[in-house]
Amino acid sequence: MNETIKTIFERASIRAYSSEPLTESELETLAKCALAAPTARNIQTRRFYFITNKVLINEIEREVVNIIYASGDELMIQRTKERNEKVIYDAPLLVVVAVDKSNKYSAVDAGIAVATLSLAAKSMGLDSVILGMPAMAFTGPRREYFKERLGMPKELEFETSIAIGHKAMEKAPHEFDMEHVIFVK
Ligand SMILES: Cc1cc2nc3c(=O)[nH]c(=O)nc-3n(C[C@H](O)[C@H](O)[C@H](O)COP(=O)(O)O)c2cc1C
Repeated sequence: MNETIKTIFERASIRAYSSEPLTESELETLAKCALAAPTARNIQTRRFYFITNKVLINEIEREVVNIIYASGDELMIQRTKERNEKVIYDAPLLVVVAVDKSNKYSAVDAGIAVATLSLAAKSMGLDSVILGMPAMAFTGPRREYFKERLGMPKELEFETSIAIGHKAMEKAPHEFDMEHVIFVK
């Protein structure tokens, strides 16, 4: 099995990180990997916000938790409590992928970018978890504040995000079912 295939099979979403920050060189490599991901028609209109400011990461997390508590969604509230109100899991890096939603492929482009980042991170001895929940901070009542904090222009919107760091827990990769692949010959 080559190293890339091994990396694909070893990746798992990690929901606890140590306080060890990423190095400048790791950040730069990850930034280049994000940019190397393909986009439909090579349009490259997505933007990556590499957030390492702990205060801001905590603010985003707190906003999401507050929105969940205010929602009355008991299932979400229960899950948030079980996760000790952690949404970003103390990761030292949160990458927000922002897109122009008038491009019909923007969500796919963003998904490919976070998938690329998750595998790049794993291959570098780091771990990650793709995060949809931070969207709440960027679509909720304080969306303008959070967009402004990132310097995100009006025409861009949060699409997805990924937390990356050094793991502080172990987790096995998920199981899968070969029947989900249909070989059409
Ligand atoms: C689009 C997307 C959004 C996700 N959002 C969250 C999230 O907000 N919080 C979280 O803890 N995990 C999130 N996950 C991680 C999934 O729960 C995880 O990938 C899934 O359970 C499979 O586990 P694995 O990544 O370990 O294989 C997300 C994954 C994807 C692909």
